[in-house]
Amino acid sequence: MKTRISDRTLAEAVSIVQQANEYAVRRPLVESFFHAPTSTISHIVRDPSSDSCAVIDSVLDFDQPASRTTETSADLLIQYLRTRSLRAEWLLETHAHADHFSAAPVLREQVGGRLAIGERITVVQETFAALLNLGASFARDGSQFDHLFHDGERFMIGGLDGIALHVPGHTPACMAYVIGDAVFPGDTLFMPDYGTARCDFPGGGAAALYRSIRRLQALPDESRVFLCHDYKAPGRDNFVWETTIGAERATNIYVREGVGEAEFVARREARDKTLGVPALLLPSIQVNIRGGRLPDPEDNGVRYLKLPLNAL
Ligand SMILES: [Fe+2]
Repeated sequence: MKTRISDRTLAEAVSIVQQANEYAVRRPLVESFFHAPTSTISHIVRDPSSDSCAVIDSVLDFDQPASRTTETSADLLIQYLRTRSLRAEWLLETHAHADHFSAAPVLREQVGGRLAIGERITVVQETFAALLNLGASFARDGSQFDHLFHDGERFMIGGLDGIALHVPGHTPACMAYVIGDAVFPGDTLFMPDYGTARCDFPGGGAAALYRSIRRLQALPDESRVFLCHDYKAPGRDNFVWETTIGAERATNIYVREGVGEAEFVARREARDKTLGVPALLLPSIQVNIRGGRLPDPEDNGVRYLKLPLNAL
């Protein structure tokens, strides 16, 4: 069962993957960096025939008990780029993460690149600005980012073709990026033996996630898939973050071929009811809706995060 391609964005994404399958110069080199404290994987996506690259979902280290940020993990990415004389054209975020701080502002200052996220980030900004009572000075128009992608928007990394796909469900603003034959679904898909991300964040939803995944699964089977997280899976001892669309379609324990929307929604919602609030949700989200910038310092020079009590 391959979903009939009735949407134009998807048809364009399929054609980008097919072109990449045909010509090696259109296939990106992908270098991945695993951040153990949050099980996040950042990816550097390189054009094989130039010095251009993109960095996807970078991580700023945060020691929560000490309330201290450090740039150790960001420095690994920066050093990788510098030692190879690579030029970061894009700093792509798949969504406003709830489990780690983005390091995009650190990278932008050190190696450049345009910081981009999905245009529906404005919905996430509205939701959390209300919860956090951020006031009128907090812009809810996405202006903290250099660029907001809409569904179907094309972009380039050197000579590589990319397209942004809106894949709501985990959050309302989630984007997947198809670059050559590589797919970066963010949290929309996990490894086939683990399933999918949760769908119970504000503006998320299991039915939306199901449709977003079916859309991604309509890409060619051989498309490489690079995940944003891995938590291992029962019976698996190592972390893995690369798979294929074919494997996701054939074997994903939650959304393999043949699982209907109602069945998925029931299972996902039942599972989500058992999950607690992520440890870093409140700190992370208020940094990430600012494009990864920390809140401005107060008059004593110290920056503060807010913790709403009894509000979640
Ligand atoms: Fe996430």
